[in-house]
Amino acid sequence: MSNAESQGMSALEIRLQRESVLPDHEARRKELTGPHINTAKFAQPAAVAKPTPSEKKKKPLLETRALHKSYRKGRLTIPVLRGVDFAAEEGKITSIIGQSGSGKSTLLHLMGTLDTPDDGEIHFANTRIDRLSSRQRDSLRSRAFGMIFQFYHLLPELSTLENVLTPIMISHGMWRYWSARKQFRKRAEELLEMVGLSHRTTHKPRELSGGEMQRTAIARALIAQPRILLADEPTGNLDEKTGGEIMEILKRLNREQNLTIVMVTHDSSIAAQGHDIIRLTGGRVEKQ
Ligand SMILES: Nc1ncnc2c1ncn2[C@@H]1O[C@H](COP(=O)(O)OP(=O)(O)OP(=O)(O)O)[C@@H](O)[C@H]1O
Ligand SMILES: [Mg+2]
Repeated sequence: MSNAESQGMSALEIRLQRESVLPDHEARRKELTGPHINTAKFAQPAAVAKPTPSEKKKKPLLETRALHKSYRKGRLTIPVLRGVDFAAEEGKITSIIGQSGSGKSTLLHLMGTLDTPDDGEIHFANTRIDRLSSRQRDSLRSRAFGMIFQFYHLLPELSTLENVLTPIMISHGMWRYWSARKQFRKRAEELLEMVGLSHRTTHKPRELSGGEMQRTAIARALIAQPRILLADEPTGNLDEKTGGEIMEILKRLNREQNLTIVMVTHDSSIAAQGHDIIRLTGGRVEKQ
């Protein structure tokens, strides 16, 4: 039995790990409990390195091929995605724009393995992920994806700090979380400092402003050190100034930590802040 098998990993997890979708369990444990984030580096924007010609032709980190999705309501079938070909390159911010009802959230949820397509393929880090079992999807999501939702989805009875820690509690289980809770709490506190919320760690969501709830959701999305951040209208419920501050946090994460971000928005000025923009129209990606 291999080391990974002895740790109770499924064959798929072992394959995903080999193909670098999942970091090595032991290395990851050390990462999460190990040296803490240097918050100083968030203070000053790092110099942006120009991509080399070979970097410009990188394979996408997240990709869909001819993706189809319809919803069924009684006898009615509502076609939403009719063959979406989408690609998000590693280290870039990719904006998905489109009118209300064009299927932006549907596409993001499919790519985040929260739902399954009717047809087509989804690939993440060169591994097909649209046919995973629900257990495999949960595992992939908790280890590789950070999700941000328009309505924050914070747990009302938990404090800001506890909300940030929830993904770790779920993915590690209470016993393993409890045994390393000090390190996890330290990391959550550092993330809250990074998003400018050190003074709100004990507040409940109802005691936070919209911008503060979204900052909490960003810290929560980052606690498990995801490879990609999927954000659904991260500024959709915020005024222009607060939305601008949230965008600055996302751009800084991309610039300084090379975090890949896929961001859904209906606001063209927000979309324009990404490196690549794709537009959904009539259930397909509009040709640029
Ligand atoms: N669970 C569902 N059951 C039935 N229809 C649904 C369901 N979810 C979404 N739809 C329909 O699918 C279409 C696309 O919805 P989706 O939420 O993906 O749009 P969107 O582009 O994110 O819109 P918005 O900008 O308003 O958030 C809409 O017409 C919606 O009514
Ligand atoms: Mg939506």
